[in-house]
Amino acid sequence: MLPTAKIGPYTLPNPLIVAPMAGVTDRPFRQLCRRMGAGLAVSEMVIADSKLWHTRKSRTRLNHEGEPEPRSVQIAGGDPQMLADAARQNAGFGAQIIDINMGCPAKKVCNKAAGSALMKDEALVREILEAVVKAVEVPVTLKMRTGWDSDNRNAPVIARMAQDAGIQALAIHGRTRADKYNGDAEYDTIAEVKSRVQIPVFANGDITSPEKALKVLSHTGADGLLIGRGAQGRPWIFREILHYLETGKHLQEPPLDEVEQILTDHLAELHSFYGEKMGVRIARKHVGWYLQSHDQSRQFRKRFNAIEDALEQKDSIEQYFAGLRNGEVFAA
Ligand SMILES: Cc1cc2nc3c(=O)[nH]c(=O)nc-3n(C[C@H](O)[C@H](O)[C@H](O)COP(=O)(O)O)c2cc1C
Repeated sequence: MLPTAKIGPYTLPNPLIVAPMAGVTDRPFRQLCRRMGAGLAVSEMVIADSKLWHTRKSRTRLNHEGEPEPRSVQIAGGDPQMLADAARQNAGFGAQIIDINMGCPAKKVCNKAAGSALMKDEALVREILEAVVKAVEVPVTLKMRTGWDSDNRNAPVIARMAQDAGIQALAIHGRTRADKYNGDAEYDTIAEVKSRVQIPVFANGDITSPEKALKVLSHTGADGLLIGRGAQGRPWIFREILHYLETGKHLQEPPLDEVEQILTDHLAELHSFYGEKMGVRIARKHVGWYLQSHDQSRQFRKRFNAIEDALEQKDSIEQYFAGLRNGEVFAA
């Protein structure tokens, strides 16, 4: 049971999307997830204020060279005109879908309410949606939470507003802004949104296994899923879920050799994308995620995190996996 997911003129190869995660879904990670089966990968948010785009961080976020289509770029901010300008400029840089961030729990971006805090001000939400849709030819999507707290789950209201404004698809994280990342995501509100709009709806939150993916799709009737933390250190989750949805059977866990290959390729791409100094630092958190399920990796990770050199990082990963294959036990 694999729904077909469309966003504007784009029919996605499949309905599984990599959720935008600042500091995680950079170009190397997005490309890796696409290779591992994701149908789309949304970029990390770009702050709407273009005066801030000269920083190295912003420049790497604006880089989409060689990324498979369609390229979706998320913008974040609280000012309709600034967001409209950011959308226009990013479309000029090659974004084929513009995604508006009303999902992140950050209080403010550039001293203005932004992310999920916007959901409290429905008039402003309408202004933002209309301004951004008007500014670009490409489809605009909206990512939001279920509301701002458990007494105010207004995602269904905003969803209707979004559809009327010309938004082409919605992604909903099954938590309120007040929840932050606490508790479990709920999917009833997402099901309600789905029943109220005709545009595609993507469900998000705590999808970390094929069974959960199927459960959330069935419960919400959603057109697809966004997967965030479940893909950290497990980018093959996309092909696992796809296989399960298509066949009802589980794919085997990737063998150790393949995990090593994926990880070393990922490191090489981080080193080349960011340059050695920054690449080495960013690689540490990914390695931590890849190895978090290995009981024996704690001591190794401590040593790995002290390495400052790209080649040394690569060698040390190779040694770690050689040790695992030889049945070596790493001191915990
Ligand atoms: C480290 C991190 C960074 C995130 N950054 C963004 C972001 O830039 N924009 C956004 O809309 N959501 C962001 N999110 C929220 C995710 O897109 C997603 O909605 C949330 O993690 C729930 O999905 P999950 O349970 O599959 O991780 C971020 C989440 C994490 C963990």
